[in-house]
Amino acid sequence: MTRETWATRAGFILAAAGSAVGLGNIWRFPWVTADNGGSAFLLVYLGIVLLVGVPGLLGEFVIGRGGKKSPVGALRDLSGSSAWGLWGVFYVVTAIALISFYSVVGGWILRYFGESALGLAGARPAYFAAPGQYFGGAAAGLDALGFHLLFLGLTALVVYAGVRRGIELGTKVMMPAVLALLVGLAVWAGTRPGAAEAYAFYLSFDLETVRANFFDVLAPAAGQALFTLSLGAGTMITYASYIDEDRSLPFDGTVIAVLNTLVGVLAGLVVFPLLFSLGVDPSQTAPGPGALFVGLAGAFSQLPAGALVATAFFGVVVLAALSSSISMLEIPVSFLVDEYGLSRRRAVALVTGAVVVTGGVCAINPTIAGTAVFGFVAGPLVDTLLTAGLTAVLIFVGWVMGRDAVAEFRSGAGGFSAALATPWLLATGVALPIFLLFTLLTTFG
Ligand code: PFF
Ligand code: NA
Repeated sequence: MTRETWATRAGFILAAAGSAVGLGNIWRFPWVTADNGGSAFLLVYLGIVLLVGVPGLLGEFVIGRGGKKSPVGALRDLSGSSAWGLWGVFYVVTAIALISFYSVVGGWILRYFGESALGLAGARPAYFAAPGQYFGGAAAGLDALGFHLLFLGLTALVVYAGVRRGIELGTKVMMPAVLALLVGLAVWAGTRPGAAEAYAFYLSFDLETVRANFFDVLAPAAGQALFTLSLGAGTMITYASYIDEDRSLPFDGTVIAVLNTLVGVLAGLVVFPLLFSLGVDPSQTAPGPGALFVGLAGAFSQLPAGALVATAFFGVVVLAALSSSISMLEIPVSFLVDEYGLSRRRAVALVTGAVVVTGGVCAINPTIAGTAVFGFVAGPLVDTLLTAGLTAVLIFVGWVMGRDAVAEFRSGAGGFSAALATPWLLATGVALPIFLLFTLLTTFG
């Protein structure tokens, strides 16, 4: 059986942007920004995206398009060493860890989406509005398990339909819908009272916070950049392995990073005006899931046409989350198909079955050895796996592929971006791994 490839150029860009744009942008980015110095943090973050994110993205692209296999086969074939192939299994494990918690959050959002669409937000103010209640009660347990299974099922359906008919077609519909709805919501939110205050909270240029805490800001900015660009999990290796043309990887990578940043900024322009217009002080609300689910859902229930706005908003989040979760599931699936010759159908069934269990544990969220499983997987575990994963990618590109990586980088690239190949290789092989290890240390130290 021949390996599938993307049907169109836009197909690859949209699929990769779909992987990048996700909960990281809508749920995490606005809060990390507001908490760490507003638009001054944004500058640090943009610098990291440009200097670490895009080169890292290109590292995964070069391995993927060069190796034309899942991370396991690509690393093994390009290096000629089975040890690197074994390291590839690390990405399969990372992907399973990622989707285990991501699918639980996706399930919560699916529930908010469904209940908003059914107009239940007003009927169940307690469920929607009470912070302690949601996270103390429905966030973990049988409800969460059920919605996790639903979200995982949707993810599995798209992946089962294949690279072209599933992932490419799906993201071609999802990504434009996400952008259009978000722009509409941001414009509408800008007309709400309190919008100016909200923009000031979100984007005020607070250089002092950044200057005073530069090293403390670096790690969150780097962590956010990796997660948001889907780096270090082998997703971008896998997606790039389905490219069959010589087109400019630097160009594609830049477009993906720009789209991803745009969605994050837009999400903040929706979230904060909404909260401010209802007198919810975001600095008093716990950042992260609490803010998105409880704060916003509560806000929607008080708005005119709130159910409609809520449906549109949670619709955006569902689509963004789904286009990311399919990229996670695709890694172990492509591994089983490439390495063991399984049919796509069987591979999807097997991997989904495993995530029913691993994600199920996250949904039930037991406390093991004093640590709640969900928070551990979603936080320290995934952060560490992604940082280690990307560091290995960079070292592979710089020290194992070397000149071959430069050739792959240049293949299809225009004059200007082709000239960046050598500086890129130096950064990739030396400066970036050091930077990542440094941030890893500051996280632990
Ligand atoms: N980039 C996604 C987000 O911002 O939500 C998360 C993600 C997807 C991380 C795929 C890693 C990955 F492989
Ligand atoms: Na993202």
